[in-house]
Amino acid sequence: MLSIVVLISGGGSNLRALLEAASDRDFPARIVAVGSDTDAAGLAHAEQFGVPTFTVTPTSFADRAAWGDELLQQVEQWTPDLVVCAGFMRILPPRFVGALSPNLINTHPALLPLFPGAHAVRDALAAGATETGVTVHIVDEGVDTGPTLVQRSVAVLPGDTEHVLQERIKVIERDLLVQTVRDIATSTIDLSSIHQSNRSATPS
Ligand code: GRF
Repeated sequence: MLSIVVLISGGGSNLRALLEAASDRDFPARIVAVGSDTDAAGLAHAEQFGVPTFTVTPTSFADRAAWGDELLQQVEQWTPDLVVCAGFMRILPPRFVGALSPNLINTHPALLPLFPGAHAVRDALAAGATETGVTVHIVDEGVDTGPTLVQRSVAVLPGDTEHVLQERIKVIERDLLVQTVRDIATSTIDLSSIHQSNRSATPS
């Protein structure tokens, strides 16, 4: 059984999808804790499912590295097999990434490498894209640059606003994230070998 810590910053609909999936006894993963960088509304989902939560606020620390070290300590307390960033809106410091990657994944609302960063849906609309989507990837030290695990596309429709398109993406995103976690838990996706082959393909 794969044990997971989920990190969130917002409403936590992706977290909720994972909690619902994991409440099925046949699902091969369990969420052992949920962490946040803020008093996120989504922490309420964890509480509803009886999953412990923790919050590590950057403003309580001298710098980003110190914040990351405390976040790492809180995460490692649960000895998770996998950490899932599901709408976690902070860039993770190098020591945090180094300690957990490749068992550290993120979901992003665009077809990376297109539209990285915090405003992916807005940026896709501004660029006039006719297609965007979702990427689940391993987190590395860059911003949305780690090896892609899976992608699913979503059409941009005439008249889409940022909100409408984002909600349509998130329906697909929740499904893809749950499927990806299942595939990691059953070793259908092997994070270490994807990480290794990506490293050997990257010129040094
Ligand atoms: C998701 O679309 C995620 O990819 C993005 O922020 C959104 C979070 O949604 N970074 P939720 O908090 O899971 O509802």
